[in-house]
Amino acid sequence: MTIILRRVAELRDVVRGWKAAGEVVGVVPTMGALHDGHLSLARRAKAECDRVITTIFVNPKQFNNPEDLKKYPRTEEADVALLNTVGVDVAFIPAPEEVYPDGHATTVSVLGVSEPLEGRMRPGHFDGVATVVTKLFGMTEANRGYFGQKDWQQLQVVLRLVRDLNLPVTVVGCETIREADGLAMSSRNVRLTPQGRGKASILYAAITAAAADIRAGQSDRMAIREAAEAIRGAGFDRVEYIELRDAETLMPSDDPHRPRRMLAAAWLDGVRLIDNIPV
Ligand code: PAJ
Repeated sequence: MTIILRRVAELRDVVRGWKAAGEVVGVVPTMGALHDGHLSLARRAKAECDRVITTIFVNPKQFNNPEDLKKYPRTEEADVALLNTVGVDVAFIPAPEEVYPDGHATTVSVLGVSEPLEGRMRPGHFDGVATVVTKLFGMTEANRGYFGQKDWQQLQVVLRLVRDLNLPVTVVGCETIREADGLAMSSRNVRLTPQGRGKASILYAAITAAAADIRAGQSDRMAIREAAEAIRGAGFDRVEYIELRDAETLMPSDDPHRPRRMLAAAWLDGVRLIDNIPV
């Protein structure tokens, strides 16, 4: 049975017991509204660790838009039931005051990799992510932390942070889980209208086609322009960015000898969708 813990002190007691028995502890940080993408991380953690903690915390510090924070789906009961089916040991669900008690004054800021793309579009977002992830590693004392490639830039920020601060945790990046038509699973997908949902998979289809064209020798710029046109043509409200970047630093890259990643963000039905793939 998945047990629910809400206090850091209780969590520490449980984890200390596990560690005293020599068990390896995995953590899967989430904001809840769990879907198969999240559960795939928990399953991977389960396969690689003796004990698994999933954290559910809608982190106010990473929302630069108060409306988005307010609208974020909260489905605790269903989430815990799902975690139970995967065999997660602990659902750690702290209140905001438990994570950010009065007087909290420290922000973790990862320069460079957090600045372009999502960082530019959502000022302060990655400071919020880096701060809460550092805290969750500290609270859970996990040996391994599981993150999705769906949020590629976030994964690179976490990898950088763990290296820079010598945190004793191994970060594991896990494949993006998609719907049958290719749309990356996301808690925001439920906000699409049925018509919007019908068009949403164009985002993935368009960047996949662009990546194939680039591999076949087409110019980066031309392939990206065609992808943006296809997305707009399908009825998306706006393409925020489609970029080909160095997979690790997220800086512009035309060096085909380094791993590159195509990353995209676009608006459909007032919902912001992101996706990314290797090139
Ligand atoms: P959240 O959006 O809830 O995502 C939790 C984790 O699930 C992240 O590592 C994310 O990349 C992963 N994930 C989401 N959709 C996925 C999919 N379709 N396939 C694979 N993995 C997927 O990301 C956050 O929360 C927060 O920023 C957090 C790291 C918890 C810090 O607050």
